[in-house]
Amino acid sequence: MIVVTLALVAVAYAVPVNEVNGLESTTIPVEPIKIIRSDYDQQPNGEYVFSFETENGINRDENGELKEALDEKNKTHTVIVVRGSYSYTDDDGKVETINYSADEKGYHAEGESIPTNAPSSR
Ligand SMILES: *[C@@H]1O[C@H](CO)[C@@H](O)[C@H](O)[C@H]1NC(C)=O
Ligand SMILES: *[C@@H]1O[C@H](CO)[C@@H](O)[C@H](O)[C@H]1NC(C)=O
Repeated sequence: MIVVTLALVAVAYAVPVNEVNGLESTTIPVEPIKIIRSDYDQQPNGEYVFSFETENGINRDENGELKEALDEKNKTHTVIVVRGSYSYTDDDGKVETINYSADEKGYHAEGESIPTNAPSSR
């Protein structure tokens, strides 16, 4: 098992926009946002798990697991099933959490801020 702790500081750069239509524009400096926790574990077979957290309240966790799946001809093949979640604080100060997964049937995400097409109960 290999555990790599990634660099603890991520640096965000302001994008310099020096000239727009011949006009000088100023570059607004952006404060770097620190990553306060970061873990990554990659298995030789392709499975992995990672997570990180930033000082402004963004959390992300994801893992990939191998799974035997059937293709359209009922032949088994190995796929990586990805499951994860991320959360952040929205402009109203509310923490939003999104869970997502991706497997041989596609990508699926759920969270309060994501509309569902499930019929509403009456
Ligand atoms: C695959 O297996 C399912 C269930 O056993 C069966 O209903 C289906 O006809 C099979 N499809 C093919 C292409 O063999
Ligand atoms: C996301 O998953 C966690 C743990 O499985 C669960 O407690 C939570 O209710 C889920 N959140 C959403 C928005 O689906």
